[in-house]
Amino acid sequence: MEIIRTVSEMKAKAAAWKAEGLSIGLVPTMGFLHEGHRSLVKRAVSDNDRAVVSIFVNPIQFGVNEDFDRYPRDLKKDADMCAEAGADVIFNPSEQEMYPAGFCSYTDMALVTEGLCGARRPGHFRGVCTVVMKLLNIAAPDRAYFGQKDAQQLAVIKRMTRDFNMDVEITGMPIVREADGLAMSSRNTYLSGDERAAALYINKALSEALRIFRDGDADIQQIKRHIETTLSGLPSVKIDYVEIVDAETMQAIQTLDRSALCAVAAYVGKTRLIDNVVLEV
Ligand code: PAJ
Repeated sequence: MEIIRTVSEMKAKAAAWKAEGLSIGLVPTMGFLHEGHRSLVKRAVSDNDRAVVSIFVNPIQFGVNEDFDRYPRDLKKDADMCAEAGADVIFNPSEQEMYPAGFCSYTDMALVTEGLCGARRPGHFRGVCTVVMKLLNIAAPDRAYFGQKDAQQLAVIKRMTRDFNMDVEITGMPIVREADGLAMSSRNTYLSGDERAAALYINKALSEALRIFRDGDADIQQIKRHIETTLSGLPSVKIDYVEIVDAETMQAIQTLDRSALCAVAAYVGKTRLIDNVVLEV
């Protein structure tokens, strides 16, 4: 496995593969990889002739008071995981390489980015769309892989690639969880023991929401209230949002007459965690 650090080398590598008629899969990440990332890499490896994992902590998708400076990094461990999973290349550019002096173009989006994390993290999806657009242009993949853990991000990237007629297939992959149900996240490393125990209630509340939904006749307000009640009893947890939205457009819905996303964002101590379940109709 090779680690490539410049845009020009990554583009040349992708072009050479293309010239040989090889298909390319891309897994965009910010590193500090865990089993959730690994599931994406494995899928990219099995679906494609060549698999690229990008590792880049993208400064423009973090808000001013967010955790960009302390975001965890461990390239050595990430490289071992990628090699073991069968990746061919890690693309690990510097900030300067991705955003050289004079950089001033951004990809933006309406509608799908308006609610949920888009509403709470102004500029976040502008940063995500911009970097993903760049990564897709640089690695020229036939397929790219994103986790359902970041459900709004997945919906946003699907919409962006359709709207801009991009020749890439976007595949969403299920949420990988710890044995006790906590959704895997690079940010789980911030949690103390007590916070981690409290964080478990996010998935517990979502699992109960799914059960209530499957039992029938519960409405959106009842399901949301159940989650809010479960989480508001925990002193270290502060709800950022509990929402039930259309699974594709991320717009609020009034009745459960189509597949919906039930999504939670909450601060556990200072750490912001997200998780979700799909209420399938
Ligand atoms: P990052 O948080 O590193 O996540 C990279 C990919 O892994 C995303 O598609 C995310 O949804 C997926 N992922 C994370 N945790 C997962 C889990 N528990 N189960 C399944 N998939 C999981 O998301 C980003 O980076 C960035 O925003 C990025 C797309 C790379 C743009 O900078």
